[in-house]
Amino acid sequence: MAKDIDWGSLGFGYIKTDKRYVSLYKDGKWDEGTLTDDDTVTLSECACVFQYAQTIFEGLKAYTTEDGRIVTFRPDLNADRMIESAKRTEMPPFPKDRFLDAVKQTVAGNRDWVPPFGSGATLYIRPFMFGYNPVIGVKPAEEYEFRMFTTPVGPYFKGGMKPITVRISDFDRAAPRGTGHIKAGLNYAMSLHAIVDAHEQGFAENIYLDPGTRTKIEETGGANIIFIDADGNMVTPKSDSILPSITRRSLMVVAEKYLGIKVTQREITLKEVAEGNFKECGLCGTAAVISPVGCINDHGKEIRFASGMDEMGPTLQKLYDTLTGIQMGRIEAPEGWIYEI
Ligand code: PLP
Ligand code: COI
Repeated sequence: MAKDIDWGSLGFGYIKTDKRYVSLYKDGKWDEGTLTDDDTVTLSECACVFQYAQTIFEGLKAYTTEDGRIVTFRPDLNADRMIESAKRTEMPPFPKDRFLDAVKQTVAGNRDWVPPFGSGATLYIRPFMFGYNPVIGVKPAEEYEFRMFTTPVGPYFKGGMKPITVRISDFDRAAPRGTGHIKAGLNYAMSLHAIVDAHEQGFAENIYLDPGTRTKIEETGGANIIFIDADGNMVTPKSDSILPSITRRSLMVVAEKYLGIKVTQREITLKEVAEGNFKECGLCGTAAVISPVGCINDHGKEIRFASGMDEMGPTLQKLYDTLTGIQMGRIEAPEGWIYEI
């Protein structure tokens, strides 16, 4: 029986659900893993994760399709990306087949929490991993915990599909040759001050510039960026220091293969954005889906997009409808994109 929740009024917050998956790494190997009701973790005060932030995570969603199936979207790519994040932070990668099995078990164990089709909500899945044995000299842990929990969520940004205003940040998110391309907690720790400050100033998010030259658009704190140019083409930043968003990579395929939209991935300067070369802008990610940007504030100078502040522009809307149609089973997906639970 589905839980009695007002799905339509959910924001992006944590609600404790029934089951979470846990596997421990000790003596050089992962144990077999299990589902548990226990949502708490008790650790040594000197656990590596507390002292040196050795933690990585992922984010994906489960959806109810129109015909009542429960599906997830490209979890294999989350598994791959988490392996890359683990390697870069000296953690033992959690094997891909185990990751996919954990997604199945965790979502199946929380079946009643998967929001119904058409409710506007989805079940967010948060896999994460941390080093937990005591470490005081700077070095990686030897023991690790992999966990995966779920929480039902609504839109990431307040106001749902209403265009947001974002600002150009004076802080950098990633260093050249740093960790911007992996999903490590440390990338988000450094963004907390910037996001609180942005919210205080009335902005929904920060756009970070490339840390090397501070002239090119990178991404926001929790999403990649896509632009639509005057000819209706999709243009998205190319950079080694942004997270390879699964949503953005999927949208590039949706644009070309489903909608006949030309896609270019290249360096994008703030200058050309300010000159009005793009008529639509959106943030894309698992949590953000596609959130339209109506205005970018660059130190008081407003860069307004032709799509305006009332609704998503027409090209982003087509991308949004097609992507969510694929995710929720209304539109046939490319081979291997949908994993049924
Ligand atoms: N960029 C950052 C910094 C993120 O945290 C996320 C969220 O996962 C994304 C981009 C979007 O990635 P994905 O589409 O894989 O969720
Ligand atoms: C996601 O979209 O899954 C994210 O991780 C973004 C944000 C919640 C950190």
